[in-house]
Amino acid sequence: MALRQIRQYGDDILQKKAKPVQVFDSVLHRLIDDMWETCLEYDGLGMAAPQIGMLRQIIVIEMEEEDIKYELINPVLVESSGNEVKTEACLSVPNKQGDVDRPMYIKIEAVDRYGEPYIVEADDLLAAALCHEMDHLEGILFLDKATNIKDRVDEDDGRRSRRNKKDKNNKQNKKGQKPGKKDAKKQKPKLQGGKRAAGR
Ligand code: CO
Repeated sequence: MALRQIRQYGDDILQKKAKPVQVFDSVLHRLIDDMWETCLEYDGLGMAAPQIGMLRQIIVIEMEEEDIKYELINPVLVESSGNEVKTEACLSVPNKQGDVDRPMYIKIEAVDRYGEPYIVEADDLLAAALCHEMDHLEGILFLDKATNIKDRVDEDDGRRSRRNKKDKNNKQNKKGQKPGKKDAKKQKPKLQGGKRAAGR
């Protein structure tokens, strides 16, 4: 695995649409592994491939507390309901946060890294995070939808990796957490007719 450079706000590629993945080979798997590595290093909740300059429909997302780790390829939103405003941030828009109205519940059809279809149902924070990442695949940033945009008050320096930070987080009562993370419920989203994302 290798770290990739995260494209930052102002980079044209973040406004372009990603294309569906058609070949599920070792090149794809390496790209997904690199996305995990980069996401972990920069302490992201999730990441979409355009954020590392690849216009492919790939999302990785992790919620450690709830033991959730998904790889969604060619995801399609098939159902959504409810709405709630949550504070969001983005690895491609450092030092900013904003409030975004997202569905409370979503259902997504996607395939895994081997091209096998599966369904993800999510609510609350995970639903919002998945919508944020799905938007990246359409060339949309949370800034395009957000209100109350301001500098992040509780900002990491963006370089400390989660691995190095774990002890610190425990001692500091999770001071380094992303905005909105505290909203996470302990409820596990249901996963129907499928399996957990491959690779982990
Ligand atoms: Co983002």
